[in-house]
Amino acid sequence: MSVIYNEKEKIFKLDTSGASYVMGIEGALGHLVHIYYGKKIKGESSPAPLPGINFANKLWFMDGNPMEYPAGGCGDFRQHCIEIETKEGYTALEPVYVSHSIYKGKPKLKGLPATFADEDECSTLEIVLRDEPTGIEIILLYSVFDGLDVITRSVKVKNTGSDAVYLKKVSSACLDIGNQNFEMITLSGAWGRERNIVRRQLTRGRHGVFSERGVSGHQENPFIAIVTPETTQNTGEVYAMNFVYSGNHEAVCELTNSNQVRMVMGINPYKFSWKLEQNDEFTAPEVVMVHSQEGLGSMTRTFHDLYRKHLIRGKYRNIKRPILINNWEATYFDFDTDKLLDIARQASKAGIEMLVVDDGWFGNRFDDNRALGDWFVNEDKIKGGLQYLVSEVNKLGMKFGMWFEPEMVCPDSELFRAHPDWAINIPGRAAALQRNQMVLDITRKEVRDYIFESMAKVLRSANVEYIKWDMNRALTDVASAALPHDRQGEIYHRYVMGVYELQDRITTEFPYILLENCSSGGGRYDPGMLYYSPQIWCSDNAEAIDRLTIQEGTALIYPLSTMGAHVTDCPNHCVGRVTPFETRGVIALAGTFGYELDVTKISEEERNMIPDQTAMYHKYNDIVREGDYYRLASYSENTVYDSYMVVSKDKSEALVTYVSVRTIAGYPDPVIKLSGLSEDKTYHVDVLDRNIPGDVLMNYGLPVQHEHGDYKARLYHLTEVQ
Ligand code: GLA
Repeated sequence: MSVIYNEKEKIFKLDTSGASYVMGIEGALGHLVHIYYGKKIKGESSPAPLPGINFANKLWFMDGNPMEYPAGGCGDFRQHCIEIETKEGYTALEPVYVSHSIYKGKPKLKGLPATFADEDECSTLEIVLRDEPTGIEIILLYSVFDGLDVITRSVKVKNTGSDAVYLKKVSSACLDIGNQNFEMITLSGAWGRERNIVRRQLTRGRHGVFSERGVSGHQENPFIAIVTPETTQNTGEVYAMNFVYSGNHEAVCELTNSNQVRMVMGINPYKFSWKLEQNDEFTAPEVVMVHSQEGLGSMTRTFHDLYRKHLIRGKYRNIKRPILINNWEATYFDFDTDKLLDIARQASKAGIEMLVVDDGWFGNRFDDNRALGDWFVNEDKIKGGLQYLVSEVNKLGMKFGMWFEPEMVCPDSELFRAHPDWAINIPGRAAALQRNQMVLDITRKEVRDYIFESMAKVLRSANVEYIKWDMNRALTDVASAALPHDRQGEIYHRYVMGVYELQDRITTEFPYILLENCSSGGGRYDPGMLYYSPQIWCSDNAEAIDRLTIQEGTALIYPLSTMGAHVTDCPNHCVGRVTPFETRGVIALAGTFGYELDVTKISEEERNMIPDQTAMYHKYNDIVREGDYYRLASYSENTVYDSYMVVSKDKSEALVTYVSVRTIAGYPDPVIKLSGLSEDKTYHVDVLDRNIPGDVLMNYGLPVQHEHGDYKARLYHLTEVQ
């Protein structure tokens, strides 16, 4: 059993594949204290006695003690997890142990995305804590998965008191741990530069990542890790947290005056206030904690395995996605049926399998100033109607997909004219109109119903097999016409729950549709969205060299199978760089793979390269989607070249990508040490046409063939020699 309660010592011990996690019930008052998280230890005992501070007569503050779920206001002055406000305005809480249960499997979290597992794959511990003066009950949930170094956590808060209270803050996980000269890693970025890996020394004080934008955001992914200083891809200890949530988040690492580290992750308390009437319960989203004793690479592969097996769902989770061509960078708003069919005809000849019509097919949408919300087909553009267009595309042997931005409304739209109060806005205040659009108040059921019905009508009218679900602005001017003043603090979270409900309805009614999420590129790339869509558009910046850094950061925790990656035209529309067509193809092959260019306008020479690229996709996508990912060299660190590889689970096959970003005079060709192969196998390396033993490839390395010039990329396919 991977979860035990030792009654004699009053400790809980959770064992993952590589780690143990121990907490205990302090004897005097029953506080739940944290004891250990680290490399797996044997047995059913605590590695250390419970912290000896005398809670009973409260002679000392709890400030130096490792706590499992610290509340504010009673003598723990570090970052805390929970705060309430009573009708008198009191905010303190001191939760103590009441009971616990241990069971097989994992419960669903009401209305929220979360990892899942069968009873034979996972065990769960629930611990009930209670604050007597207020009647606030806190239920901590921990799940442990067989074969993975993962603990998932979430929290339920119940008001068993007699008066309503306001929940002002509720985090989902906390970890108190002795400092090991930790460094902190985050995935930080901006539009067009999402998820860059940032590593820095953890110094005294509170540091972290957050979003107050209503979405998880381009700026800081809901991810944080602390690592020992010697940590590389293959060495060092890593403690990571990733939040299964798509709205305002906060993760804090605090290095305290007593050289302890506290890591806390959860919903951002910014403008958060949730009214709990008597017996109401609030469920906080899940945090995934991954521990690695063998560096960042092992952490990465644990996240990938967990998300591929226990988070992503639906028809496409384990299969190749159709190679798509999207018309956004090809035509922007300037298209009609004829133009789209011209693109589709050329594309189908080259092996492209799906046409995706991006923004501009609906309402009066001739530019980005109008019409969001009017989800009916514009037959001036889609001449002959949607059904005609889709059937012509299908006749070419291609699938058809389309873009929606369901959460938005433009002031210049039929929807807004009919329902101005459906937009999130503060009465009497001119709202910020980012890209001439406002956010719909999807905390309201009638708004969600309108969105669902208007989308469903289009989807039912033709054979649509893919949706790109976009979300192009943050929430501002936040108020809802439908909520009383003391529930306005619920809007941000209700909004996210509304997104989840809508995506659930769409994927339930149209289970055959491949859903790809997007948010001005990768502005909502988080595990919450991956529960509904197996892939997410990584970034509006699809320029191959910039994508090396974006995809490296994304792949640090998210599987390659989730990374929306396309070949785009040159000079690149985002940054103007010109790279060889082959290189663009090789780099896009690390993700879902597709094209975003006018295939009728590119040169014949480039067009003729597409069949080879689509063939490569079919040859390699299984291993890219399902294999173990190893980062070998990072262009963002060495400024010269990039390299990564995927290895099949049985180690019989591997694919190495090498990208030479620039040629340096007198610089020798790199010999890249591979990883993850079998030392007992010999591999045929196609480019070199040589058989090389696995231990040689991993210890001496793969001598890559450097070509003179910049931006050259090459794939090396390794197959086991029988
Ligand atoms: C966002 C998306 C793009 C494209 C445009 C359309 O910016 O990220 O890929 O769909 O919207 O308006």
